[in-house]
Amino acid sequence: MYSTVLILHSILRWFVLLSLCYAIFRAYKGFNTQSAFTNIDNKVRHWTATIAHIQLIIGMLVYIKSPIVKYYFSDFKNLINNWDLTFFGLFHFILMVSAIVIITIGSAKAKRKKTDLEKFKTMLIYFSIGITIIFIAIPWPFSPLANRPLLRTF
Ligand code: HEM
Repeated sequence: MYSTVLILHSILRWFVLLSLCYAIFRAYKGFNTQSAFTNIDNKVRHWTATIAHIQLIIGMLVYIKSPIVKYYFSDFKNLINNWDLTFFGLFHFILMVSAIVIITIGSAKAKRKKTDLEKFKTMLIYFSIGITIIFIAIPWPFSPLANRPLLRTF
């Protein structure tokens, strides 16, 4: 169970990033060219937030099952000084949940905006903040914070 959700969590990160990049690209283009907010833009907005929500649920399962997180909270007082454990026990969790909350608020606000220009602008701002936080909190192999593979297969 644990390794399955961890593999899923690792793969899904790419879908989260790609959908956000595409949504931001469409919002930027739509805002700059003052285009109409089409049904496709609306679907992209909706699915980008949904993919982030799926990752949130998988992330929570990983969090509950993770031996790293279990060990961290078994001796929190002493292990808070261990950065690799604190990264997954607190840092990654708090930043990712915050980013997904920001993406959700942005998506809901964009949906309710009156003009197409405001819809693109709202999506552009909130999704850009979200992807920046997510990028910082991913344990890339090149990250100074914590390192995990680009794609987990075992
Ligand atoms: C957009 C949101 C998120 C992205 C892109 C993301 C990405 C990742 C990546 C790439 C890893 C490394 C996987 C590996 O070891 O191969 C990871 C690990 C982890 N993630 Fe997330 N994550 C997100 C949200 C969350 C959330 C919301 C939680 C908790 C509720 C969470 C909990 C964890 C935990 C506990 C680990 C470490 C598991 C372990 O090594 O035992 N993640 N995450």
